[in-house]
Amino acid sequence: MCAERVLSGMRPTGKLHLGHYHGVLKNWITLQDEYPCLFFVADWHALTTHYEETRDIGPVTMDMLVDWLAAGVDPEKATLFVQSRVPEHAELHLLLSMMTPLSWLERVPTYRDQQEKLAGRDLTTYGFLGYPLLMSADILIYRASKVPVGEDQIPHVEFTRELARRFNHMYGRGPDFEERAKTAMKKMGEKNARLFEHLRVRFQQDGDAAALEQGRALLLESRSLSRDDRERLAGYLEGAGKIILPEPFALLTEASKMPGLDGQKMSKSYGNTISLREDEASVTRKIRRMPTDPSRVRISDPGDPEKCPVWQLHLVYSDGACREWVKRGCESAGMGCIECKQPVIDGILAEQGPMRERAQIYIDKPSLVREIIEDGNAKARRLASECMEDVRCAMGLNCA
Ligand code: TRP
Ligand code: SF4
Repeated sequence: MCAERVLSGMRPTGKLHLGHYHGVLKNWITLQDEYPCLFFVADWHALTTHYEETRDIGPVTMDMLVDWLAAGVDPEKATLFVQSRVPEHAELHLLLSMMTPLSWLERVPTYRDQQEKLAGRDLTTYGFLGYPLLMSADILIYRASKVPVGEDQIPHVEFTRELARRFNHMYGRGPDFEERAKTAMKKMGEKNARLFEHLRVRFQQDGDAAALEQGRALLLESRSLSRDDRERLAGYLEGAGKIILPEPFALLTEASKMPGLDGQKMSKSYGNTISLREDEASVTRKIRRMPTDPSRVRISDPGDPEKCPVWQLHLVYSDGACREWVKRGCESAGMGCIECKQPVIDGILAEQGPMRERAQIYIDKPSLVREIIEDGNAKARRLASECMEDVRCAMGLNCA
């Protein structure tokens, strides 16, 4: 069985900020050491809401890719690609659309929410309604098992799971499904085949969840099975068809606790961000201008770090000793706010140093980014077309 695959996408929003780094990107960087990962720019997704202003998508995509690379997403470890360069996503989206009940799409919570939130845009489009389905196609086409997403995207992964189940049930049962499953079972060896059959009956007749688990484990252990056999048997065990599109799991990305310059969460819409590769002078200026505890009007007024947005940044960037120093200096009016801010400035600059260095390589030579992406696109297309072969065949299209 191939190792569990991780897949995640990001809409092209332009330059990323430190909130993205502390939320999403650091998580990706950890995952790339643990799993085969695919990370992509969801440029078609941008069109579902911003179809009237598409000119910047190209440059914005490039900027974002440089940010990923700068942050430490490593193309040697993870596959980076651009959604629109893998047109197989569109084919799967189309085929899935044939069997997706309209009511399922209308029920997705982001559908009405976003229409209300982006009230200035006309989102009564076919593409916008189908956006969760496009996301399902993105996930299912790579047979990804883990999908790191923020909380708002969890319903889309749930939707994808339901859709995969429906697909497998509908198209995973060729006329000779049972016969093929029994032939595959023989390849497990007589003893294991008997055990597997026993577990299958226990699950299907008594709903014994432990039997299901044990059956799945048995499949994973059986080295003599091809992927095809294993998917068929997994379906046979569960009483569904052959599993052509495995159900993915959401991996919840904790919301970034990165505070912005005003103490609220760092977010483009609040205008309180520091960008990933912001230049040093600008970082210094922004921190120096940050508001502090309003009761510290004069340097001789004692303050309370809990009431100060700078303290929130010390919690991210400073160690225990430094925090003690801040507390003491602030509460006793022993130090000024400019002095207190310096370790935060130093912390941010130290974090950004390696990022700026890595980014410079790509800014000097943009062809490097294009090469990385072309490699990634090609690799993604290979995986996507493997899946599409199976999907077409299961649906009776293009079968030899
Ligand atoms: N919809 C996601 C967002 O807006 C981006 C996305 C598109 C995605 N396709 C995906 C995330 C597939 C994970 C997997 O943030
Ligand atoms: Fe904030 Fe530091 Fe000034 Fe206290 S000393 S108010 S923690 S900036």
